[in-house]
Amino acid sequence: MAKAPRDQWKSKIGFILAASGSAIGLGNIVFFSANAYRFGAGAFYIPYLVALVLLGIPVMMMELGLGHRAQRGFPEAMYQSAGVKGEWVGWFGLLNASVITMYYITILGWVLGMLIGAFGSLWQPMAVAAFGIEKGVLSNSMAHFFDMISRGDTIAYVLIVWILNVSAVWWGTKSIERWVKVCVPLMWLFMFILILRGITLPNGTQGLLLLFTPNFEVMKDPEVWQGAFSQIFFTLSLGFGIMATYASYLPKKSDQPTNALTISFLNCSFEYAAGIAIFSLLFCFAIVPRASTLSMTFFVIPEGIGAFPVGAQLFGVLFFALLLMAGITSSVSLIEAVGAGIIDKFGFSRRKTLLVISIIGAAGSCCFAIPTVIDPVLRSNGTLGLSLLDLFDHWAFSYGLLTCGFLECIFIGWVLGAHKLRASLNEHSRIRIGPIWDWMIKIVIPLVILLVLGNSLRQEFRNGLYGSALETGRLVNLHVLVLALYLAFTIGGAFVLTGAGVYHRRRKRRAAILLDEENR
Ligand code: TRP
Repeated sequence: MAKAPRDQWKSKIGFILAASGSAIGLGNIVFFSANAYRFGAGAFYIPYLVALVLLGIPVMMMELGLGHRAQRGFPEAMYQSAGVKGEWVGWFGLLNASVITMYYITILGWVLGMLIGAFGSLWQPMAVAAFGIEKGVLSNSMAHFFDMISRGDTIAYVLIVWILNVSAVWWGTKSIERWVKVCVPLMWLFMFILILRGITLPNGTQGLLLLFTPNFEVMKDPEVWQGAFSQIFFTLSLGFGIMATYASYLPKKSDQPTNALTISFLNCSFEYAAGIAIFSLLFCFAIVPRASTLSMTFFVIPEGIGAFPVGAQLFGVLFFALLLMAGITSSVSLIEAVGAGIIDKFGFSRRKTLLVISIIGAAGSCCFAIPTVIDPVLRSNGTLGLSLLDLFDHWAFSYGLLTCGFLECIFIGWVLGAHKLRASLNEHSRIRIGPIWDWMIKIVIPLVILLVLGNSLRQEFRNGLYGSALETGRLVNLHVLVLALYLAFTIGGAFVLTGAGVYHRRRKRRAAILLDEENR
């Protein structure tokens, strides 16, 4: 039976735009600056560069090479390389990334809400009825944000973002290419405008000095390194199964090592560009952000923009529009990766698969937007939705991505054999990758990840399970429940999907044998 030809990118530039669109997202625009600030600015960019060279680029080459070699989605590619256990890793990676995508899209729904607010109401003081907070007590953007997340109609924003996502993946690479050809260049343009604004503000350049003056003292803190290593995985979309999927739509003769370098370079330049824009903006107004990533996005930066002498509204709209575009070109890539994983494995129709994935995904995103107030004095997260987001993010982001990266390296490095993947990478490559890459994948990267994970776990034991100190009202063990749900969804789900895969494969084999006997 002839197989239908696999979907393929129309052009190389289409692929590069899509892959860099996936990599460039909220991570670049706000999380990088938030981390940089949290760890003391000049202490962050050097560990970040080290993480890029040590982990980012080699793992990017591995993921692109893996998908390209197999011409299949992530779980099937892992199955072909490392058998059923490898396939389990593939599903685990995709399910973990699905958790991230669900709340990432909720955040994008809030970004949409802020974008609409930026046309007017965001700049006015307001009361926050659900919390009983009077006008003028919170900064404008904070009041706006908490009012928004404590209202049920915000769920509509989340659903709109889902609809945008689905319309972008519906026709596969064709519609993704159409989206990224518009969004990615616009993102660069908007970022450029923001930088110009930032550095021309009085004292704007001082922020830059702070960002780029190395601070070796703080670099002794293992947390800085841990932050840099998780950030690199997240920002380059590694450990999501995305790069493998996108590379599986490339023609046989394409050059993955060069692609890996191009994508990483584009991503990291955007990250530094955003760092420049944001640091100059904040320092001009002497806003000292004790910023978690979300407060950076929704309170600190809007506050800075609101203080502009002219054009606050325009720049506010520009900033949130930029976030929304950058976010959607990222979330789309994961929906495509999950879709491809299922279609390549089970042969279901594309439409039905995408419909089912989006219904489940949208339901998940709505849970993160549940407006019920469980922490009325705003000691921690305020609403149930935001508390769930905080807890799931801890497991999926800080542990899940690195765990997936670790397992990928072990299975590709030792079961398939890193040299085999390297040979296929080198086949069409202009740059020759040497045997040192094998040892990076087999030993260095897994060891580094183990160290980081071990350190996180140690803290978990020392300070008590994450979330035990969160204010969750009457929902006393919410943090334990979330951990159980997370493990069931990712680990349990991966067993179910792998098991279904084994069953499916056996059935196909039996059918082939029967057909063979009939023909004889
Ligand atoms: N790289 C993206 C960023 O920096 C994160 C990301 C990539 C992502 N793919 C994703 C997030 C899929 C959610 C879903 O923001």
